[in-house]
Amino acid sequence: MTQTSKVRSWFEERLGLSRLMAPLMYKPLSGGARYQFSVGSLNLLLFVNQVLTGIFLMIYYVNSPDHAYDAVKYIQRQVDFGYLVRGLHYWGASAMVVSVMLHVIRVFVYGAYKKPREIMWVSGTLLMLLVLGFAFTGYLLPWDQKAYWATVVGTSIPGTTPVIGDSLVRLIRGGISVSNLTLTRFFAIHVEVLPWLLVILAGAHLTVLQIVDHTPPWNPEKAKIEAPFYPDQVFKDMVLFLLVFVGLVALANLHPAPLGSVADPTVKTYVPRPEWYFFFLFQLLKFFQGPYEIVGTMVLPTLFIVLMLLLPFYDRNPALAPKKRPVAMACIGICVVGYITLTAMAALSGKPGGGPSTVSVSKGKLLFAQLHCDSCHSINGVGGQVGPPLDKEAEKRTREWLIAHFKDPQKMSPGSIMPKFNYLTKEQLSELTDYMQSLK
Ligand code: HEC
Repeated sequence: MTQTSKVRSWFEERLGLSRLMAPLMYKPLSGGARYQFSVGSLNLLLFVNQVLTGIFLMIYYVNSPDHAYDAVKYIQRQVDFGYLVRGLHYWGASAMVVSVMLHVIRVFVYGAYKKPREIMWVSGTLLMLLVLGFAFTGYLLPWDQKAYWATVVGTSIPGTTPVIGDSLVRLIRGGISVSNLTLTRFFAIHVEVLPWLLVILAGAHLTVLQIVDHTPPWNPEKAKIEAPFYPDQVFKDMVLFLLVFVGLVALANLHPAPLGSVADPTVKTYVPRPEWYFFFLFQLLKFFQGPYEIVGTMVLPTLFIVLMLLLPFYDRNPALAPKKRPVAMACIGICVVGYITLTAMAALSGKPGGGPSTVSVSKGKLLFAQLHCDSCHSINGVGGQVGPPLDKEAEKRTREWLIAHFKDPQKMSPGSIMPKFNYLTKEQLSELTDYMQSLK
């Protein structure tokens, strides 16, 4: 007996693992081993990559605005192989988003969400949302300008919810603006809450898979071919992962994970740019402005998620072959083309997201609340009645008039009881004005 087989039989006698694992490992896959199926395993392996690189990053990272940026810079420039670990984590995140999307598309095309695999689909959709949550919370952690301003814009999106919008933004940010409290909560969510949720959900996802099995190919001829999970499918899974991993190593070296200048909340001219997979959302926001903003920020995204979660319950067509599912295929086609088009539009316009105006409008909106302008003025019916409602202010006044009026209302409107706001800085006046000019 060789040394390894001795060790193996020592464990075998005590644990009987091969007996336990055999039904899982040698389970026949109908349709045979395929690279399409490897994308699911790729999600898992990329997650393992995120966990391992994440643990190494945590050794040096400090979740405080005073030190976060320097810690990341230190990882990137000083720590041996720090740039590689951070690069793998950074590019791994993008790879994971792509791989999850491809997996969702594959499952959809194969009709793998249909009875009896509804639980697979619902847990999978939730897993996809978790991955996006990881991406969003992780983006802030380097605390550079990009991180800061993208988070300012991103967290202002829930603010468009009627009634509870402002409270929601405060809850997410831990206050009125993006600050140390935002950083600490994003960090906690990123390294504690989301990983455990993902482990539990992915565990459920894979356990249910053992019960319901893969969906057989729609072609009955192909469905007859069978191959065991191990080694046939496992081999393909490893080949795909290795290829992707080599790609990540290459990217980490050729395009090191970026780090801009340190976050500075006073630089209002910064153009926020989200990570590419959120471009579509920023692009969507450009189409819906003013009172329709909420369509882009809340209505469409919520509708999409609900439609996705409930898919197996309203698509009752039992057919698997795409040919017999024209409506379903049209829907996925529209989604894919729409996503690519919106992403490309945002990328080509060079300014994904409303640019500085979006940021300064959102800052102006905060000032409006902080300075209690709403005690005298109403916007969309909310606020005091002492002064005129400001719903249509953009159509009424020019920039110059507004700024002059803020500084000295009595000069512009003799007898006005509006207090002078001449103590505001030039930037603050400009933000308030940007906000006024967004009201139409
Ligand atoms: C004490 C009540 C009060 C407060 C507080 C107040 N305003 Fe006014 N505001 C008025 C009144 C009254 C008018 C109408 C007379 C005038 O034009 O000055 C007015 C006019 C305006 C106008 C011009 C409307 C038009 O005619 O086009 C704007 C814009 C405006 N306020 C914005 C603001 C902003 C922004 C703030 C907070 C920084 C604010 N106001 C705070 C009472 C107030």
